[in-house]
Amino acid sequence: LMMTVAVLALGATASMAQTVGFSQIGSESGWRAAETTLTKQQAEERGIDLKFSDAQQKQENQIAAIRSFIAQGVDAILLAPVVATGWDSVLQEAHEAEIPVVLLDRSVDSDKALYLTAVGSDLVHEGAVAGQWLVDTVAGNDCRVVELQGTTGSSPAIDRKAGFESAIEGHDNIEIVRSQTGDFTRAQGKEVMESFLQAENGGKDICALYAHNDDMAVGAIQAIKEAGLKPGEDILVVSIDAVPDIFQAMAAGEANATVELTPNMAGPAFDALKAYMEDGAEPAKFIQTESKLYTQADDPAGEYERRKDLGY
Ligand code: AHR
Repeated sequence: LMMTVAVLALGATASMAQTVGFSQIGSESGWRAAETTLTKQQAEERGIDLKFSDAQQKQENQIAAIRSFIAQGVDAILLAPVVATGWDSVLQEAHEAEIPVVLLDRSVDSDKALYLTAVGSDLVHEGAVAGQWLVDTVAGNDCRVVELQGTTGSSPAIDRKAGFESAIEGHDNIEIVRSQTGDFTRAQGKEVMESFLQAENGGKDICALYAHNDDMAVGAIQAIKEAGLKPGEDILVVSIDAVPDIFQAMAAGEANATVELTPNMAGPAFDALKAYMEDGAEPAKFIQTESKLYTQADDPAGEYERRKDLGY
């Protein structure tokens, strides 16, 4: 006790978080499920007691989970925010309770002082990488694009749209003719693609599909096949995440390109928390992960094999 008192008197910082609350969005996609698995694994490897809460896509459930974490006195909170707005009050409450919050994979429009750091990719850049791939691939030929957006109001839906649009800007041969949300799910990706195909001459007037995630692309690929067209040839398919299933589709020639988003957001998040809590090291406000483009030329069968046991 004497030693503890002496250490505290010297102003030493607390030790690494022992209990961390994780408010997860849900399990809308293969990528999301992998992020959950890896977060649990990373916590276990580090001896962290992870309190996991699945919000089933509802912000109100996430807010309730955070309030419950605060009431339980957790050492830190991980938050994957379903939408970008509406977090000010609950983040303020965590801030007042001196519980550091780390955002995972999506951003919020709140004051940056209300969270410790955010781990994620540059979501605008991801969209731009996908758009640039299409610009290069169609090489000046006319291309009518349909777009499957992610969850309305989520930062990846907003930013991936903006990034793609910026890449095709000034290329008058490329036009987004239809754009609708598929909520990041396979089922809705398929359903919305069916309506796109119907509205576009059975799909004959569509040159490419841009999906904000691979799961929606996989659903849409099914719809394209059922319409009697060849995905990957009659309709080019570009999406984001790099989950095993899209590599399988790429290996079969049914998808063309994907932009990788690592599901291991928790590793860098726990590292930042440890450095902050043990040494008082203030992390950068944004810890950026890579956004690598994969095409059919990048050994999709091998990429599938390499990923299929990595938490997906
Ligand atoms: O926030 C990241 C996105 O959320 C992933 O790209 C998508 O699959 C998930 O649902």
